[in-house]
Amino acid sequence: MTKLPETASSSAPVRAQDRLIVALDVPTARQARELAAQLGDAAGIYKVGLQLFTAEGPAVVRDMVSSGKRVFLDLKLHDIPNTVAHAVKSAIGLGVSMLTIHGSGGPAMLKAATEAAAASDLLLLAVTVLTSMDENELSQVGIGGRVQDQVHRLAKLAQSSGCGGVVASARESSLIRSVVGDGFAIVNPGVRPAGAELNDQRRVATPAEAIRAGATHIVVGRPITQAADPAQAASAIVREIEQAQAGR
Ligand code: C5P
Repeated sequence: MTKLPETASSSAPVRAQDRLIVALDVPTARQARELAAQLGDAAGIYKVGLQLFTAEGPAVVRDMVSSGKRVFLDLKLHDIPNTVAHAVKSAIGLGVSMLTIHGSGGPAMLKAATEAAAASDLLLLAVTVLTSMDENELSQVGIGGRVQDQVHRLAKLAQSSGCGGVVASARESSLIRSVVGDGFAIVNPGVRPAGAELNDQRRVATPAEAIRAGATHIVVGRPITQAADPAQAASAIVREIEQAQAGR
């Protein structure tokens, strides 16, 4: 099982800023560096996704890790088990703290990934159903039934395969928590502070709602990265997480 350094159920107290993951959805390493510098300690984890990684490669990750930042590498790996296992090892070599793989890659792929991560501190997260997919989209790729049934199935599979958590929408957190119990990370994107622009997100939750529903971490991009004062926006979210943590 991959390590779970910080969950709601861990006995060690978790700082609220370590539950906030800032999505660095910017095209260049220079912009990523500038944002991380502006944010300082206001956020605990930075998410490098496909856009930035494809443009700048592993150097951008090495750079952030060597400057003391914790990095969530969101590459949503999905390939044959051998290839995914080697990619997981490469990510561990970069020093990332969190990495995503697709739960729909199946048990052999998930097991190969978790075995590759076993001796490390990497938190391996399985993506259940992309929030951009609805029942109609799922049926077109041959998956019948409701989205929540597929989320439920993949969360169980991720846990039994040794993953440390899942990425899922906030509206699925309580269902997932009831299936996986404590000690399993649930990471919610699609989070918007009350009154913030929704951008292209549709089914959003506030930071407090997400934490109260069982999320261990939230991913926030544009409400922080496009704010006039990103550090202040992040700090306001951290305060909201602190209050929700205290109340749950
Ligand atoms: O700017 P915003 O807060 O919408 O950014 C959300 C981040 O979370 C983006 O990097 C997006 O790719 C990611 N994400 C998401 N929904 C998912 C999975 C990942 O919004 N289901």
